[in-house]
Amino acid sequence: MTDIAAEKSLTIRDVASNDEDVVRDVVTAAFPTDMEARLVHTLRHCGALVLEQVAVDASGAVVGHVAYSRVTPAAIGAGQALQIACLAPVSVQPDKQRSGVGSTLIKASLEKLKELGEDLVLVLGPPAYYPRFGFDPVLARKVQGPYAGDPFMALALTEAGSRDLPIEVAFATPFEEFE
Ligand SMILES: CC(C)(COP(=O)(O)OP(=O)(O)OC[C@H]1O[C@@H](n2cnc3c(N)ncnc32)[C@H](O)[C@@H]1OP(=O)(O)O)[C@@H](O)C(=O)NCCC(=O)NCCS
Repeated sequence: MTDIAAEKSLTIRDVASNDEDVVRDVVTAAFPTDMEARLVHTLRHCGALVLEQVAVDASGAVVGHVAYSRVTPAAIGAGQALQIACLAPVSVQPDKQRSGVGSTLIKASLEKLKELGEDLVLVLGPPAYYPRFGFDPVLARKVQGPYAGDPFMALALTEAGSRDLPIEVAFATPFEEFE
């Protein structure tokens, strides 16, 4: 169990091979359609995922899921060496939402991404939610790609992640459906 999760009796762990069905159920339940669950499935099976973690409650139930996929820098120069990941989607079982599961999962998974050597994380989501984790729309203006505006935010996990910008990026192919 991570330290962050301990106080909430949540375990944050990497997805296991036998979690596929329960992850699909949690992601499908969190969103209006099964589009995000299909996105996770496709990202996983095309090898685009950098990290996939679940939140497990005290009863052993999977109540949350987060996926990070590889983003490819197209820049020539220092930024070409950056390790960049995209946070999407993040899902919490509807009856467990707004009780800290999503925050605990995101904080713990960002720590893990840092350990993995990722430099920069990008997200497209509510500007009222992600800044609490350090995501910044101003930093994201230095990242050129298919997304722009305040919902597009970036978080540098290393010095290089904010230094070696601006940069042009490409997201994993399955995101083209969402552009
Ligand atoms: C978004 C989501 C992952 C957040 O997880 P959670 O466990 O419900 O959230 P937490 O309990 O950690 O955090 C609660 C805080 O987040 C805010 N919040 C939750 N969902 C939000 C949203 N969609 N937009 C803005 N703020 C949101 C709450 O207002 C609350 O704010 P407060 O702390 O200022 O009171 C979860 O609600 C979810 O799965 N929603 C449906 C799927 C979705 O929209 N995913 C994100 C797409 S980018």
